Amino acid sequence: MNYYLLILALIVFQACEKVNTNSSDITPLNLRTEYKVNPVLDILNPRLSWELESEERGQVQTAYEILVASSPELLSAEKADLWKSGKVESNASNQIEYRGKSLNSKIHCFWKVRSWDKNGNPGVWSETASWEMGLLSKDEWQAKWIGNDLTHLGKGKVYHLPPAPFFRKEAVLKSKVKKARLYVSSLGLYEFQINGEKIGEDYFTPGWTDYNKRVYYQTYDISSDLKEGENAFGAILGEGWYAGYLAYALLVRNPIVKNFYGDVPLLKAQIEIEYENGEKEIIVSDETWKTNHGPILEADILNGETYDANLEFGNWSEAGFDDTNWMASQVYPEKAGREIECYPGNPVQVFSELKPVSVKAREGGKYIFDLGQNFAGIVRLKVKGQKGDKITLKFGEALFPDGSLMTENLRMARVTDTYILKGDPEGETWTPRFTYHGFQYVEVEGFKYTPTAVAITGLALTSTTPVIGALETSSEMVNQLYHNIVWTQRNNYFDVPTDCPQRDERLGWTGDAQAYILSATFNSDISAFFTKWMVDLNDAILENDAYPIYAPAPKVRATDTYSPGWSEAGVICPYTIFKTYGDTRMIKEFWPQMLAYLKFMEEKTAENYIYKERSFEDLTPKGGYGDWLSVGAKTPPDLLASIYFAYCAQLMKEMAVAINETDDAGYFADLFEKSKNAFEAYYTDGNGRIRTNAEAYGDGAGYVLEGQTKFSGHSQTAYANAIYMGLLSDENKAIAGQHLADLIAEDGGKLSTGFLGLKPLLPALSETGHSDVAYQLLLNNEYPSWGFEVMNGANTIWERWNSYIKGVGFTNNAGMNSFNHYAFGAVNEWMFGNMAGIKVGEPGYRTFTIRPEIAKDGIDFVNASYHSINGEIGSSWKKDGDKLVFEVKIPVNTKATVTIPANENNTVLLDGEAINECELLEILERAENDLTVMLGSGKYKFEINKN
Ligand code: BGC
Repeated sequence: MNYYLLILALIVFQACEKVNTNSSDITPLNLRTEYKVNPVLDILNPRLSWELESEERGQVQTAYEILVASSPELLSAEKADLWKSGKVESNASNQIEYRGKSLNSKIHCFWKVRSWDKNGNPGVWSETASWEMGLLSKDEWQAKWIGNDLTHLGKGKVYHLPPAPFFRKEAVLKSKVKKARLYVSSLGLYEFQINGEKIGEDYFTPGWTDYNKRVYYQTYDISSDLKEGENAFGAILGEGWYAGYLAYALLVRNPIVKNFYGDVPLLKAQIEIEYENGEKEIIVSDETWKTNHGPILEADILNGETYDANLEFGNWSEAGFDDTNWMASQVYPEKAGREIECYPGNPVQVFSELKPVSVKAREGGKYIFDLGQNFAGIVRLKVKGQKGDKITLKFGEALFPDGSLMTENLRMARVTDTYILKGDPEGETWTPRFTYHGFQYVEVEGFKYTPTAVAITGLALTSTTPVIGALETSSEMVNQLYHNIVWTQRNNYFDVPTDCPQRDERLGWTGDAQAYILSATFNSDISAFFTKWMVDLNDAILENDAYPIYAPAPKVRATDTYSPGWSEAGVICPYTIFKTYGDTRMIKEFWPQMLAYLKFMEEKTAENYIYKERSFEDLTPKGGYGDWLSVGAKTPPDLLASIYFAYCAQLMKEMAVAINETDDAGYFADLFEKSKNAFEAYYTDGNGRIRTNAEAYGDGAGYVLEGQTKFSGHSQTAYANAIYMGLLSDENKAIAGQHLADLIAEDGGKLSTGFLGLKPLLPALSETGHSDVAYQLLLNNEYPSWGFEVMNGANTIWERWNSYIKGVGFTNNAGMNSFNHYAFGAVNEWMFGNMAGIKVGEPGYRTFTIRPEIAKDGIDFVNASYHSINGEIGSSWKKDGDKLVFEVKIPVNTKATVTIPANENNTVLLDGEAINECELLEILERAENDLTVMLGSGKYKFEINKN
């Protein structure tokens, strides 16, 4: 759409002269170290961040001072023995590297900060925050890897699942404990107990890595778990990702189906104690730890857990337990080259307990419990019965119309938990430890009575990425969609960003991850989560320097390799983390790998900087995954690869600038121009229409999108990507936008995009002036659309738009029919970025824009908030008769370019006054339909009256 732009002379209102009062209300808060609150780290120069609060509008930080001390007492006396930054003239309030004395293992560092405001007046000191250093060198690990090889006890033909080993050790502590830490890791999963209690609230520790290269450890403060005198330490191990079944290996008859990293789960635990009298003691895992196997007969992530309560040991992790029957643990050697590092991510924990909304009896004495929400997690079972009674739990995401449990979409994942009762007259409670399922319904068999809802409680698990976003609109459907997006993210951000939590897959698919990452940033703080996954991704780089299709990358199918649109996660994810959090360290860390990948892709273009048809025929599937799960014309994967290649060159340029790699910045600026021009020359007709040589693909055999309509460059996905990724001249972009809108109209006002086309679809429409079409897609409820899923009962995002249709049933159950797949949730980026209008400017939202797009119909209000690394941003709009109320919130120390949807004839009031009477507001531009202003921090309420 052509706007008539009337650029006003810049009107700058002078702030009133301020009396220098020598103090300020500017207050640092929410102090974080390496993105976390009071963490344990093994980073020598951790980055510090804080947010700022002040009642005053337009407030900024002009300087800061950081103090770091080795005790809270020293810090409060302002005796910063580790670091005094001095007064630093800077507006930076995050990603500030510690530059004090070098830090040793185990040192506890306490810090605080104060800021100077825009008038140069200092505010108060913040509250104290801290971080602690973990074990910085391998040599400090005196603990040994210990195990108990129970492989021979694995039963079952299809699923060979051995019991879980238990370990124990007693120790007499000779005096009062002042401070104690547990450093614990495992190959496989662990649960650690002290004196009968589980330590910490984490599950699935120590997390999934390429265990050949690295394994993580956790650190727990166990000072109050220990007592003078006798103590006992216990651990249980599960096979986990290390030794258990993974993904579809069984389904595709891979030669290896489990034990991808090792055969026997191992434990490493080191307890470091400081007594009040100053003495120290270390207790470590070694051959003196006793081991046995007992009630956990099977424990596998995909296949479930089996527990026989009759085999319980009693107080096995308490002192005084008789372990004479237990064997000595076996010590296993350290693997050369494997690092042991502090866990950088967010641990998996229970974030919600779900009570059944119904319990229905089924034939054969079975009951189906409906937990009201599809989620990833486990259940707590409460049961009463006779010794030897067996309860079997099966899990499913949906029911067949006759009320029976649908489990076909789990494919080869057994997803079954079993509990055998000991016959406690008081009743028995059990929760599995080393498995999880994706489900809403639990079918329980084996009750000898009619169970009530208390029998089953759902424990929803997720990586604890802090929730930082909220969105509400007047549309119930859109609210439900947002709910579905948020839950699907929680369910799949599970140590790694998985595709789905239910079937035999649960892999960190790179295509899904890159398509959704920006959407994810609006819901949760994913900085630490991706700090961890970027290591996984880089550990998984293929020999040809390409990023793989999933990470971590055990070879669950021989032909799994790389794919355009998937592999680019190696560039797009760090770029997104950089833009969202101002993180340049991640870029620096993986820069050589990114360079190598770009070089590999550039070499594959051979000439001309684009990929012509059939450039990726050597991949399986041919061409890679392309616009996976699209429902219309097939967009050629080579065309998409060409767009992605140019886009990555552009992102590399921006990142090179950010890390001062000037030569690289020049190189990629040039590469972007070349590849962009090459794309326009080869894949467009010169008039903005995208084309391809469809004949080159023959009948399309071997391509993943077999069976759909012909290959075509003139597709929604092609236009959406070319626009979004900045490949077209302004003129051609406008034409492409029109083609895109026309194609949607031809498709009956519906989308036809797959994973790669969906993410840019609505943003591209908005960018080319077709916001109304974007809204039409958002609010549509015919297949294929989000509304269609919602109408058919979705409470999570589905893999397919028609995964289930009321009155019709399921599609693709035995193949791909996940009800918990975030890729199509990538519309969240548009919901926050366009509907609410919040978009990042300078990295870390130091500057940003708020430019909401007001729906013509269908939505009357939107309330969005997004807690950025610089504080909370708010954007709300509401239609009120002839009036539009638009409110924004801008955090201290940031600036926003705010576009008010008001034309020249509208009256605009700010907080009840005519807009241009106000201070701290700079009018930047007055266009035909909107007015753009620059605002500093504060809350602002605009009323736009249509005259
Ligand atoms: C996964 C997807 C993934 C795809 C590759 C599927 O099985 O569930 O989400 O990206 O394979 O195309």
